Amino acid sequence: MTTPCVKVIYLVGVKKMTDCQGDGEGTNSPMEVYEKLTAQGEEVRALKTAKAEKAEIDAAVQLLLKLKVDYKQLTGQDYKAGCPPSETCVAPDNRPSADGANDEDTVDPWNVSTSNAKGVDYDKLIVRFGSSKIDQELVDRIEKVSGQKPHHFLRRGIFFSHRDMHQVLDAYEKHKSFYLYTGRGPSSDSMHVGHLIPFIFTKWLQDVFDIPLVIQLTDDEKYLWKDLTLEECHRYAVENAKDIIACGFDVNKTFIFSDLEYMGASPEFYRNVVKIQKHVTFNQVKGIFGFTDSDCIGKISFPAIQAAPSFSNSFPQIFKGRKDIQCLIPCAIDQDPYFRMTRDVAPRIGHPKPALLHSTFFPALQGAQTKMSASDANSSIFLTDTPKQIKNKVNKHAFSGGKDTVEEHRKYGGNPDVDVAFMYLTFFLEDDEQLEKIRQDYISGALLTGELKKLLIETLQPIISQHREQRKKVTDERVKHFMTPRPLNFNF
Ligand code: TYM
Repeated sequence: MTTPCVKVIYLVGVKKMTDCQGDGEGTNSPMEVYEKLTAQGEEVRALKTAKAEKAEIDAAVQLLLKLKVDYKQLTGQDYKAGCPPSETCVAPDNRPSADGANDEDTVDPWNVSTSNAKGVDYDKLIVRFGSSKIDQELVDRIEKVSGQKPHHFLRRGIFFSHRDMHQVLDAYEKHKSFYLYTGRGPSSDSMHVGHLIPFIFTKWLQDVFDIPLVIQLTDDEKYLWKDLTLEECHRYAVENAKDIIACGFDVNKTFIFSDLEYMGASPEFYRNVVKIQKHVTFNQVKGIFGFTDSDCIGKISFPAIQAAPSFSNSFPQIFKGRKDIQCLIPCAIDQDPYFRMTRDVAPRIGHPKPALLHSTFFPALQGAQTKMSASDANSSIFLTDTPKQIKNKVNKHAFSGGKDTVEEHRKYGGNPDVDVAFMYLTFFLEDDEQLEKIRQDYISGALLTGELKKLLIETLQPIISQHREQRKKVTDERVKHFMTPRPLNFNF
């Protein structure tokens, strides 16, 4: 019989909350045994390489085997090198899964790539990451609890995966509120259409559940990762805040903050950062994020800063010091590694684990083998693009699932599953019936590639133009209001 991993970590976590690290003998946590195992594996390798005495190697191997048995007893799982004991003990996202499932898909906060023209295999990703599928039952439940028709991102599986969403709804039904947390890494003045996806959905969630929202702008992260100055990163944070505000968030319910400002202004936030830093080892972040010895220490400790807003007492002005308010994080699945780490650490420092809703990626114009990315201008439609630029980009760069000639297309039809214009319509055309008719017409060959692209252009142009108009109305004063630490219109 195996012991459930979650339970063991939780129980050990209760002890660790009181006496933190450096437990005495007999109180090893899964992470400590994991670290000993990793070190012992290295020791065995070193002895073998050095061609040490057989007896010495045997003794080291015996200890390794004993540690493996201890680890299995403690976690119910087999030890896997590079896979620290998280709540689910899934392989880190970049590594091939244990069952060999879709080894070619790479999904992490910095890279998304697959060789499949239809895009990442999200079902396999759910298994690899250990999250849960958003199935029809959950969509129906969200409808029942919120009393609203589910957003088309939910109806169409664009938000496809979750962690603990049922728990959030259970509590909400018992009149226990929760809060939303999402973010943006400001690496340039302009956001692209893909970045809008989590914000559009977050706005919908805020509207239907009527809850507070915190938005983190990680200008520190971009300084650490990119060749930019601190001043540039902070300026981009403020510029990006304008794009986010233009999505229609309510200033009375939303707090937007730049790390470079808020870290210094809020002792409570920084305290949580330090607590998280104390409870995550270098080995763990190496396993989760693939950091190497030559990465700067800022990168290595950054995940704690992205984790801290998941804990409500990081915002005493909003939650009056309460640490028990559950957090729900909508984001694309590339950000999940941060929150796997957060969920692992949360019970050990006395916080509820944040729940998550994950979206698929808005693909690059060139095809679903990768996500739309701000670093490749031709792969992206920016929120600053004019109607003419949108038209040119779609016509010139959007990968088509149509046939080479009109005759062939009429005869054999197109393939919407790999067609970027069709994929974009699934994100932005709200009418389900119209979308299905377009799909059928494309498959039958009645609708040509040029006509499909025209439909997309006509759908996108007004959405982006309207966004630009809203953005123009966002004054510096308004940004300042959103970014000032203050109570929101909720009673906690
Ligand atoms: P960033 O700036 O890379 O992305 C911001 C948000 O947009 C999502 N995203 C996409 N969604 C759909 N299709 C795409 N092509 C696409 N590209 C990006 C990201 O998943 C993210 O939700 N480190 C983070 C900033 C951050 C954050 C957070 C994000 C801080 N705290 C909490 C989400 C939740 C970053 O650089 O995001």
